Amino acid sequence: MVKIAVIGGSGVYNPDMLENVREEVVETPYGEVTVKIGTYAGREVAFLARHGSHHSIAPHKINYRANIYALKKLGVKKIIATTAVGSLNPAMQLSDFVLPNQFLDFTNGRVTTFYEGGDRGVVHCDMTDPYCPELRKEIAALGKKLGIHVINGGTYVCTNGPRYESPAEIKMYSMLGGDLVGMTNVPEVTLAQEAEMCYATISMVTNMAAGISQTKLTHQEVMDAMAANSSNFRKLIMALIAEIDPDEDKCDCAHILESVGGFKL
Ligand code: HPA
Repeated sequence: MVKIAVIGGSGVYNPDMLENVREEVVETPYGEVTVKIGTYAGREVAFLARHGSHHSIAPHKINYRANIYALKKLGVKKIIATTAVGSLNPAMQLSDFVLPNQFLDFTNGRVTTFYEGGDRGVVHCDMTDPYCPELRKEIAALGKKLGIHVINGGTYVCTNGPRYESPAEIKMYSMLGGDLVGMTNVPEVTLAQEAEMCYATISMVTNMAAGISQTKLTHQEVMDAMAANSSNFRKLIMALIAEIDPDEDKCDCAHILESVGGFKL
């Protein structure tokens, strides 16, 4: 059973940390998903490149429901996602790793739920702790052990993209309490919560957000920043795969929909 998954965002496309990698096509009610599955430290791990292996899927076109459903179908209990983010918070600087604990959703036109009526009905899932507090704690502790600076907590503002933001938008997000800005965490996190999986995102600050940065923002700058820090990303993720217990159940994530019979495949 594959119990741990890594969803790689911008700059994290290859599961080269895994051994004996095979490709599996998983059928879901929302379409097919190709997942790479390999082993590390004796554990089977699923790897999904969110934007495709050649960064060809725009944030608003990603089939989030199919991706999360496919991981659930494989047996995944814990998801570690990576994202590139701009920072609105001077305490979160270039190359810092941040573990968001809250989000603000500024996307539009995305399906953010498995529960839109029909066979599944309408369910209102709790989002008090959208990012698993236990998983975040474990990531932060491992970061400390490895000497990698990890900030545990921050509000991730999800924009629709694919364009970057205007300085006026960034100012507004900042006034609303946003710390980081990216384009993909919603609905990935909300769907993972509905599917009763532990989900945490390691966000890497690739730039200060528009209007805070002294220069205009380019995708190349984001990719270069990711590449410059990829060895720390790799170290952290490999250590996590080896050390986290996928069956540990101290949090509410796996039971969030218990009162309505749980998430069903
Ligand atoms: N805005 C939105 N998404 C991003 C940014 C940004 O500044 N940097 C990396 N992803």
